[in-house]
Amino acid sequence: MSGLLSLCDVTVRFGGLVAVNNVSIDVQEGMIHSLIGPNGAGKTTIINTVTGVYAPTEGAIYFDGLPLAGVPPNQICRRGLTRTFQNTELFGEMTVADNVRVGMHSTAEYGIVSAILASRRCRATEAKISEKVAELLDIVNLTDQRGTAARALPLAKMRRLELARALAANPKMLLLDEPAAGLRASEIEEMNATLLMLRDKLKIAILLVDHVMPVVMGVSDRITVVNFGQKIAEGTPKDVQSNPAVIAAYLGH
Ligand SMILES: Nc1ncnc2c1ncn2[C@@H]1O[C@H](COP(=O)(O)OP(=O)(O)O)[C@@H](O)[C@H]1O
Ligand SMILES: [Mg+2]
Repeated sequence: MSGLLSLCDVTVRFGGLVAVNNVSIDVQEGMIHSLIGPNGAGKTTIINTVTGVYAPTEGAIYFDGLPLAGVPPNQICRRGLTRTFQNTELFGEMTVADNVRVGMHSTAEYGIVSAILASRRCRATEAKISEKVAELLDIVNLTDQRGTAARALPLAKMRRLELARALAANPKMLLLDEPAAGLRASEIEEMNATLLMLRDKLKIAILLVDHVMPVVMGVSDRITVVNFGQKIAEGTPKDVQSNPAVIAAYLGH
C-alpha cells in the first residue's frame, strides 16, 4: 500500500458471484483517479466496499495509513473519506442550504443538551456552520438557490449540491459515483471545472466512477479499468485510451 487510499488484492463475492476479483488500486493524495468499466464490472461494489457497506471477502483496504476493516460507514466518513451516490440521495423537501447543513452533522461539536440550553458554544458553532454552508454553496455555485427545495433543482444542480453536502464533512478524499451521468455538454464542462478546483484549490483526492468520457479523460490523473470484476488496465488517460484490452471491453458491450 502506498496511496492515500489503497485496495490490496480485494475480492468481493455475493454468493457464487465474484463482483470484484483480486483488485488492487492505489489512489494518491491530491489526485483524481478514475475507475471505469462496462456496466456490471464491479465499480459501485468497489465504492460500497471502501465505504464499509460491504466487507471484502478477501484482501484489505487502507485509508490514510489505517486499515478500514470493521470500521462502520459513519466512522469512515469521519476519518475523511466521503462519498456521493450513483442516484442522488438528497432530502428533496429540504432546502439546498439545509441539505448541506446535514452533511456537517458528523463534525458538529455539540450535543442535544447544549443545543437545548442554547449555550454560547452552541451559538458560536451554529454561526460557524452557517458560514461554512455559505462558503460551500459558493464553491458549487448554488448561492442563489440556497432557499430552494432540493427536489426543484435541475439535475446538474442536484449533482453539485451532492458535492457540497459531501464537502461539508471536510473530506480528504471524495468517492464520486457517476456525478456526470445525464448531464449536457455545457454542464459537463462545469462539472470538470468543479472537480479540478476541488483537487487544485481544496487539495482533495477523488476516486471518480463515471461513463462520461469527456469527464474521465478531461480530469483524470490516472485511470483504472475494470471488466467482469477484474482490473484489466491502469495508467494515464492516454495509456488507457490506446490499450487494446480496454477498447475490446468497451466494443464488446
Ligand atoms: N448486493 C448485491 N448482491 C448481489 N449481487 C450484487 C450486489 N451488488 C452488485 N451485485 C452484482 O455485482 C456485479 C457488479 O455490480 P456493480 O458493482 O453494481 O457494477 P457497476 O457499478 O460497475 O455497474 C453485478 O453482476 C451485480 O449484479
Ligand atoms: Mg455502478
